[in-house]
Amino acid sequence: MPSLADAKAANAFFSPSYTPVAVFVGATSGVGQGMVEAFARYLTGRAHIIIIGRNEHAAADIIGRLPNPENEYTHEFIPCDVSVMANVRAVCKVIRDKVERVNFLVMTAAYSSMAHPAITSEGLDLHLAMRYYYRFVFIQELLPLVKKAQSLGEDAKVMSVLGAGRGSPKRPIDLDNLGNTVKPRTGTIGVSFRSMTMSSNYTDAMLAHFATRNPSIAFTHILPGAVRTTFRVDLDGFLTPLSWILNLLLPLFCVSKEVCAEHMLHALFAPDRDRGLFLCNNLGDPVSSIVFESEVELGENDETSVLNGVPMLGYGASDLGVRRIVEHSVAVTAA
Ligand SMILES: NC(=O)c1ccc[n+]([C@@H]2O[C@H](COP(=O)([O-])OP(=O)(O)OC[C@H]3O[C@@H](n4cnc5c(N)ncnc54)[C@H](OP(=O)(O)O)[C@@H]3O)[C@@H](O)[C@H]2O)c1
Repeated sequence: MPSLADAKAANAFFSPSYTPVAVFVGATSGVGQGMVEAFARYLTGRAHIIIIGRNEHAAADIIGRLPNPENEYTHEFIPCDVSVMANVRAVCKVIRDKVERVNFLVMTAAYSSMAHPAITSEGLDLHLAMRYYYRFVFIQELLPLVKKAQSLGEDAKVMSVLGAGRGSPKRPIDLDNLGNTVKPRTGTIGVSFRSMTMSSNYTDAMLAHFATRNPSIAFTHILPGAVRTTFRVDLDGFLTPLSWILNLLLPLFCVSKEVCAEHMLHALFAPDRDRGLFLCNNLGDPVSSIVFESEVELGENDETSVLNGVPMLGYGASDLGVRRIVEHSVAVTAA
């Protein structure tokens, strides 16, 4: 269990012999901002950094403050509303046109409203679009560039900052309500909560899929813990006053985005986590992990928290769940 000092000390050792290309989705505020700022600081700016989000002014402000000796390195913002998968595919094409490899793909943007579940213009549950589907599409579209980095002997790492370690055999993925659009959507809190739980388990499932198919790349799902960001509890109706109280009290129990970022980067940089699947806690420690020696085709086992016959603590999917989630995701995010 690394302390903050341990994490910082380990991060300070990160000094790759090549110039990394890093894509941060959702780094104009919150945990993503903390990560991009610390990433640039440890490398003294020596990286091609791409920030994805909507807030151009915030991005310009952050980029303007990143170290960049003699403006030698490219630090850029590409606007994209990631709730729309067509936008995600378009921004990935822009990235593919700009760079030949991606060493780090870090995704933090999310939507956590308890009061406003919605369906997007593409027919997707908004929570799942913002917490899960866009991450699936980014990985799918940028995987060739991550593989290219790996083939050059460089870091090749994908990280989803969301809700790792929440899976349990008591909470299997509901394969009869894929996408949270099959069963009736009654009650805002219930629908939102269901989507948020699903998004963590779906993320485990899809990262397991990519890890089994790409055994030389590291896929990490990590829980940031309670962090002071723009996140606000927004219960509605008679529960509204509870939101006010929680929003007053919660910050007292949260860490800063800067502290969180150190732990997230500790997990990202870890030299011994260069391939496999890692489910990590808020300090960056793996709750469970698995490394595949070669490509694996998952079967039909429906035991939750078991991956290819290996029990995985906190893992929210089953082999059958992985297959069904990936088939579903391919179908609903397709052009
Ligand atoms: N904060 C916590 O206490 C906590 C606890 C548990 C889990 N988490 C998880 O950790 C991750 C990071 O949390 P966070 O609190 O830092 O998140 P956050 O503050 O909600 O994330 C904000 C970032 O997401 C981007 N974003 C939001 N909507 C977007 C959209 N439609 N298109 C593109 N970008 C969008 C924002 O950029 P723009 O405004 O520029 O669009 C901003 O950069 C999330 O997955 C969250 O669920 C957080």
